[in-house]
Amino acid sequence: MEHEQAARRIKELSRELEYHNHRYYVLAAPVISDRAFDEMLKELEALEAGFPDLADPNSPTQRVGGDITKAFPTVAHRHPMLSLSNSYSREDVAEFVARVEKEVGQATYVMELKYDGVAISLTYENGRLMRGVTRGDGEKGEEVTNNIRTVRTIPLVLQGNDWPASFEVRGEVVFTREQFDKLNRQRTEAGEDPYMNPRNTAAGTLKLQDPKEVARRVLDNFIYGVQGDQLPTRSHFGNIRKAAEWGFKTPEPQRRFIEQAKDLEGIMAFIDHWDIHRRGLEVDIDGVVIKVDDLDVQAEMGLTAKSPRWAIAYKFQAEQAITRLNDVSYQVGRTGAVTPVAELEPVLLAGTIVKRASLFNADQLARLDLHIGDMVRVEKAGEIIPQVVAVEKEQRAAHTRAVHFPEQCPECATPLIRLEGEAQHYCPNEHHCPPQITRRIEHFVARKAMNIDGLGGETVDELFRAGLIRNVADLYDLRAEQLLALGKGWGEKSARQVVEGIAASRQIPFEQVLFALGIRHVGETVARKIARAVGSIDRLAAMSQQELTAIDEVGPVIAESIADFFAVEGNRNIIERLRHHGVRLELDQLEVVEVGDKLKGLTFVVSGVFQNFSRDGIKETIERNGGKVSGSISSKTSYVVAGADMGPAKRTKAEQLGVPVIGEEEFTRMIEG
Ligand code: IVH
Repeated sequence: MEHEQAARRIKELSRELEYHNHRYYVLAAPVISDRAFDEMLKELEALEAGFPDLADPNSPTQRVGGDITKAFPTVAHRHPMLSLSNSYSREDVAEFVARVEKEVGQATYVMELKYDGVAISLTYENGRLMRGVTRGDGEKGEEVTNNIRTVRTIPLVLQGNDWPASFEVRGEVVFTREQFDKLNRQRTEAGEDPYMNPRNTAAGTLKLQDPKEVARRVLDNFIYGVQGDQLPTRSHFGNIRKAAEWGFKTPEPQRRFIEQAKDLEGIMAFIDHWDIHRRGLEVDIDGVVIKVDDLDVQAEMGLTAKSPRWAIAYKFQAEQAITRLNDVSYQVGRTGAVTPVAELEPVLLAGTIVKRASLFNADQLARLDLHIGDMVRVEKAGEIIPQVVAVEKEQRAAHTRAVHFPEQCPECATPLIRLEGEAQHYCPNEHHCPPQITRRIEHFVARKAMNIDGLGGETVDELFRAGLIRNVADLYDLRAEQLLALGKGWGEKSARQVVEGIAASRQIPFEQVLFALGIRHVGETVARKIARAVGSIDRLAAMSQQELTAIDEVGPVIAESIADFFAVEGNRNIIERLRHHGVRLELDQLEVVEVGDKLKGLTFVVSGVFQNFSRDGIKETIERNGGKVSGSISSKTSYVVAGADMGPAKRTKAEQLGVPVIGEEEFTRMIEG
């Protein structure tokens, strides 16, 4: 393709992709399929690779993460990033309104949600994102633009054309509860400690050096301010509405995320509404913000050293309850991490009964200075898991017992260790400490791992207690009679289901087996990458740490953890036994086909359901053999690979265009032949 033609196509694709990104992420109203989007993105990636001089830092391809940032430069804010004066009572809000009226007379107010995340300043020039800077100390912050580009709700190129040539928007970078939970689920599965709260995690994520990791975690952003010399209106509310037209994610008036009011009554109605409804929001908020709407009146009222005089934050009470600490127990996880847990007298907190709360680690225990029988304050603020935040010391009875973090594992009495730089204590007795063994087996049988039906945590505990299983390989020696002999709760049917489920798990693909082994830090995604890059467990076991780090997504920490795993004889024995039982320890024949060109120059459309492949599996195989996959049948299609339930419309279209329709076997022959 000519340079000029490529430039035109890149521009066209970028504009289209940014438009669809906005439709999907900001408006939640997509108009094309994910597949069509991905195809355009692929085309753009290919063009950018072919014409590197045409690559653009604001290209939609940067959404998945650009280059590593070694250090974040410090940048001075053009206007300082102030904070808000806080109020905790409605009287304070009434006083604020009275003060405004005294100084400037009748005013219009804007009420917004106070998002509990991290502030960000975004500079746009000529409709393009130039810089994203953290709040820092308010005067200067860190430039984290590469990471900001991965936030799908932040436009890289603006829509419309009535934006000022140069301006700044301010907003809050947050995790939605859904994404935060997802991130923590992935961490727990990989044997890592879950993060405590979305706000701190959002702050930490913005400062990660690898934008790809930032992209993977999926941050969100809400805009709460527009600043510049030539703004479209003199109303804060009006400018926020304009920002929505330019493509920003802004609070929606129809959902009462932002509202205008003329007086205290209107402001209070907004506060009342969100005091009740805030729990149903997709993100955490810790209050509402009340601002004077008119920018000229704002200027007239001015600033104090730290905060504007034309705004105030009303903070909701963090949800707290006071209850008795009955005991402290210690949970030992699959990786040996020991977590103290407060066993509480059940209490109602934020709509749920709380019986247990996290005490996180030894440092937190020491900080709280807990005694058994204490009345403790439990809080559920941004945190998902309730936590003990304080002790009501004046209520402490005489002669109570102080809680000390144990020096030995509460389950197996092995002395605990604490790794340098980590807050967590670990029980190093990984092969004989019962909960570590059972939690590992539980992980092994889980749906995303070996997917063994009929085996859950309780059954694993039961089989372990009965001495039937000591490690994951023992599962494959289980016989139905042994289960039946356990008596209570077991019948022919349930015993058979378990044994058959275990047998069936031998078909689970290698990448899932690798995840199931529970190597520390090797979660689902990393396991998949490694399996595909390396191909077999034997090759993986033979690799040096340096070789391991050459694999995409594998850093030194993961590499070390993998090397440690294979260094243990017990683990190697388990793998040999799994091999003996027929568990897949290498990629399927088709998956290991080296990159080839058997299908070079051919374009395929894949449709329907297949017996031996997943649809994605077929597509990958096509691409690995040099072919192309397309979403719709056209005269350029070479073959349609049809599965069981391909629709009649597609078949007719293929026939009309004279495109051959082939089945799964024929396809397999094409690659093998
Ligand atoms: S206005 C000059 N509006 O709260 C006024 N801030 O305590 C500055 N925040 O650093 C901010 N939601 O990160 C404003 N709707 C909202 C907000 C909001 C959350 C954060 C912001 C700021 C902090 C101030």
